[in-house]
Amino acid sequence: MKKDLSNIKKSKFYLNKNECVGIPTETVYGLAANAYSDKATSKVFKIKKRLKNNPLIVHYYSIKDLQKDCEINKNFLKLYKSFCPGPITFVLKLKKKTKISKNVTNNKTTLAVRFPKHPLIRKLLKELSYPLAAPSANISSGVSAVSKMDVVEEFGNKVKFVLEGGISKIGLESTIVSLVTKPEILRLGSIDVNRIRKTLKNKINFNSRSKNIIVPGQGKVHYSPGIKVRLNVKNPNMSEAFILIKKRKINDKNYFYLTKSNNLSEAGKNLYKTLRMIRKLNYKSIAVEKIPNVGIGQTINDRLIRASKK
Ligand code: TXA
Ligand code: MG
Repeated sequence: MKKDLSNIKKSKFYLNKNECVGIPTETVYGLAANAYSDKATSKVFKIKKRLKNNPLIVHYYSIKDLQKDCEINKNFLKLYKSFCPGPITFVLKLKKKTKISKNVTNNKTTLAVRFPKHPLIRKLLKELSYPLAAPSANISSGVSAVSKMDVVEEFGNKVKFVLEGGISKIGLESTIVSLVTKPEILRLGSIDVNRIRKTLKNKINFNSRSKNIIVPGQGKVHYSPGIKVRLNVKNPNMSEAFILIKKRKINDKNYFYLTKSNNLSEAGKNLYKTLRMIRKLNYKSIAVEKIPNVGIGQTINDRLIRASKK
């Protein structure tokens, strides 16, 4: 589309000037900056109010581009073949001669990298002469953004431009796999862990307390809508917003369905959108129906548990 092309041109213009740009991906929107630039990446931390010791994910177009910065290995190639471009992030060893800004890695020797699938971000990456550092486009510890409007709501005019790419198809952040030593899953996403196991022909565990997690980001409050969240609720109070996935015969106006057809992928896609909507409607607390802890349900529960922490 003509509009898309002119928006990509605008994104390039601002990124080349070391400014931050909101970008669409199939998981959630990102707050992007030139990963090779100290100036641009320092702005990401400032705008997002992100702690300096929490490293950024870097987005690439191709393996050829990635090899300028990281060491690749057999496990990476197996997973890349099965899932890329797509919602998976790899933690790899950084090459000594890399141009990646020290801000991105907090001076560490590993880098989290991803090959997003959204056609607009792929087009943009292809045209740039540098990869894009892009954490989720939300103020730190808050709910991720799944539309251009969400990004504007988070940052206002602090972000020069947001590339319009529709609503994020998946709506949950990527699965993070560390491949620095023994493969380990550091964050659940939309990919079934069993598919990753099969691809690697290996045992691989989800370890949210791994020593490979070099930041506090995964453990404490995260994805928080800023109001109280109660989980596994059967009967909510009338005054609280009730999030459900199973269709009920009688519905009240405080009921918010993530899916009406028992489809957990659909529930995942609607999770952040619904949390934002509830907050805007000025509810003071949220109750959530029990969500089965299988497949994407596990990821939804992971996010909700963190959102419920004070
Ligand atoms: O789907 C996604 O991954 C989205 C889109 C925009 O790509 N990005 C995203 O970024 O969720 P962020 O920054 O919100 O989450 C990345 C997580 C953080 O918890 C960070 O601590 C962790 O990845 N991380 C970054 N670099 C790491 C590294 N070298 N080792 C271990 N964890 C790392
Ligand atoms: Mg995030």
